[in-house]
Amino acid sequence: MKTVSKIEDIRKELNKARMDGLRIGFVPTMGFLHEGHLSLVRKCRDENDIVVVSIFVNPAQFGAGEDLDSYPSDIKRDTALLEAAGTNILFLPEREEIYPEGFSTNISVAGVSDGLCGRSRPGHFDGVCTVVTKLLNIVQPERAYFGEKDYQQLQVIKRLARDLNIPSEIIGGSIIREDDGLAMSSRNVYLTPEQRESALSLNRSFKVVQDALKEGVEDVSELRADVEEFINSHEYARIDYIEFVDPEFLRPVRKIEGDFLMALAVYVGKARLIDNNYFEVQK
Ligand code: PAJ
Repeated sequence: MKTVSKIEDIRKELNKARMDGLRIGFVPTMGFLHEGHLSLVRKCRDENDIVVVSIFVNPAQFGAGEDLDSYPSDIKRDTALLEAAGTNILFLPEREEIYPEGFSTNISVAGVSDGLCGRSRPGHFDGVCTVVTKLLNIVQPERAYFGEKDYQQLQVIKRLARDLNIPSEIIGGSIIREDDGLAMSSRNVYLTPEQRESALSLNRSFKVVQDALKEGVEDVSELRADVEEFINSHEYARIDYIEFVDPEFLRPVRKIEGDFLMALAVYVGKARLIDNNYFEVQK
């Protein structure tokens, strides 16, 4: 595995591969890697000839008071994990390489980025879209991989790629969970053992919804109230949002009439955790 920090160098490296007719796959990350990231790297390994992974903690997608300065990092460990997972090139740019002096462009996707995390983290998806556009332009992969853990991000990036004619195929990977169901996240390290217990309320709330659906509940306000009550019964959990949306455009649904996505964000201690579940509904 080669580690490259300059855009010019990764371009040279990848141009060579492209001339040889090799298929380039790409997994962008912010590092502090876990099985969630590595599952995408392995999928990328299976479907391409060259695997490129980036690690860049993107300041543009963090709001004031968020955890940009304390975002966990362990490049040495990440490098070893990526090497073992079959990565060919690790792109590890400095901030100035991505945002040089005078940088003035912002990419904004309307609609699908308006609700959920877009509403509770203003500017977040502009920051994601801007950096992902840059990274896709730098790497120019045939395929790029994003996790369904950040379901809204995946939909926003699919929209972005379609709208801007970015020729990379955007591919989703399923959510990887710990044995007890907690969705893996770099931010889970912020949790104390007691808080981690409260964090399980996110994934366990899916069963609350499943049970209510089985009982015939169709009214979303009733489902939301059940989930709210359940999550609030956990000492360290503080709800940011609980939403029931259609899985493509992420518009709120009021009554369950077909497949839907439940997405939620919950503060547990100083961690803001997100999770989601796709519910198939036979009608
Ligand atoms: P990061 O949070 O590091 O996540 C990198 C990729 O790993 C994202 O596509 C995310 O959805 C995926 N991922 C994280 N946890 C996962 C899990 N438990 N199961 C499956 N996939 C998981 O998302 C970002 O970085 C950034 O916003 C980025 C796209 C790199 C732009 O800066």
